[in-house]
Amino acid sequence: MIYFFLVDINTYSTWLEIDLKAIKNNAALIREKTGVEVMAVIKANGYGHGARPAAQAAIAGGATWIGVARIEEALALRRAGISCKILVLGFTPAAKVPEAIEHNITVALFDPELARNYLDYVNIHGGTLHAHLKVETGMGRLGMNPALVASFLEGLKDTAIQVDGIFTHLARADEPHSDSTPRQLAIFDTLLADLERKGLKPEKVHAANSAAVLNFPQSYYDIVRPGDLIFGMSPTGDTLPAGFKPALTWKARIISLHNFPAGQGISYGSTYVTSKEERIGVMPTGYGDGFRRAENQQVLVGGKRVNIVGRVCMDQCMLQLDSVPDAKVGDEIVLIGTQGDETLSVDEVAKRWGTINYEVVCGLADRLPRIYNE
Ligand SMILES: Cc1ncc(COP(=O)(O)O)c(C=O)c1O
Repeated sequence: MIYFFLVDINTYSTWLEIDLKAIKNNAALIREKTGVEVMAVIKANGYGHGARPAAQAAIAGGATWIGVARIEEALALRRAGISCKILVLGFTPAAKVPEAIEHNITVALFDPELARNYLDYVNIHGGTLHAHLKVETGMGRLGMNPALVASFLEGLKDTAIQVDGIFTHLARADEPHSDSTPRQLAIFDTLLADLERKGLKPEKVHAANSAAVLNFPQSYYDIVRPGDLIFGMSPTGDTLPAGFKPALTWKARIISLHNFPAGQGISYGSTYVTSKEERIGVMPTGYGDGFRRAENQQVLVGGKRVNIVGRVCMDQCMLQLDSVPDAKVGDEIVLIGTQGDETLSVDEVAKRWGTINYEVVCGLADRLPRIYNE
C-alpha cells in the first residue's frame, strides 16, 4: 500500500487520493445509526477505492463483515491478511468450494441444484462450508423462491453445509415513498416467521443496502450491507446526512500549455477550434483512466471551473484556461473533489456521463495510482 505521507505526489501526473479516515468515519457512523453489525460491501476493488485498504479502514470503523461479489475478491482479501468474516454475495462456482472452506469464506446459496453440487465438493474435501441463503422477494435477480426455503433448509440439516445466515436484496430502497421495499420486507418477514416456527431460522438476517440504511430502519435486522455509503457516496445522488464524508479525490497536473492563435483545431477531429488567441492546457487523463469521452465536461484549476475542449483522448484531454491566466505547467487539476471554494462531486460527474456515482468509481482504471491518506 502507498501511504500519502511517504509519497512525493509530484511524481504523478494523474492520481487518486483516498481518505481512509473518511471510510473509517462512515463505517462508524453507520454502526452508530443502525445499532447492528455492519458488513462493508467492498466488491469491484472497493468501488474503485482499493479493496484491501478500504476493508481495513471499514473494519477500523467497526465493520465486522466484508461483502464481495466473487470468491476471487474474497481470496485476494484473505491473501492480503483480512481475517474478518467475508460473505460472497454473488455466484460461487462449485469447484471453488474447497478454497471457500480452507479460507473460511461464507458463500451465498440461492439454488437447490447448486447446493447439491456444493455438497459433493464438501463431502470430497471435508470440513464445513458456511453459507447464507439468499431469498428472492422482489429484486428479480439471485434468490430462492420463498416457498422452497423451509424444505431446502430442512434438507441441509445434518449436512456439512452450515447455513448461518439468510438475506434478501432490495430493488427500490432509494425510493422512500414507494411501497416496493415494505412489500419486499413483508414477504421476507413472513418467511422468517415461518422458519422461526419450524425451528429453521438461520442465526443472522440481513437486507439493507446503503439506501435502506438511510430510508428503512425496519430493514436493519442483524446486519446491514452498505457499499456506496461506506465510501461517502449517496445511493440516490442526493445530499447525504451530516457526518458522511466522501473518501475519493481525483487529481492531475497540467503537463503542457500553449497560447494558440485563432483557428487552431484541438484534439481528434478538430471538433473545437480556437476563435481567438486561447490558452490551452493538456491534462494527462483520458478514457484509458476511466474518464469518459463525453462532451461538455469541466475540471477545477486554480479553484475555478474550466471547460474541457475537443475530444477526450485515451491518455489526455485539453483544457480552456483563459479564465486562469496564472495557470502554469505542474499546477494541480481536480477532476473529482474540492479545490479552494469549488467542488466537483462524483454525482456531478456521473450526471454529465448519464450514469450513477457507482459506475464512475468502478470505472477508475487500475493504472491510476491510489494514494492513501490515513
Ligand atoms: C447483494 C448486495 N448487497 C449490498 C450491496 C451494496 O449496495 P450499496 O452500494 O447500494 O449500498 C450490493 C451492491 O450492489 C449488493 O449487490
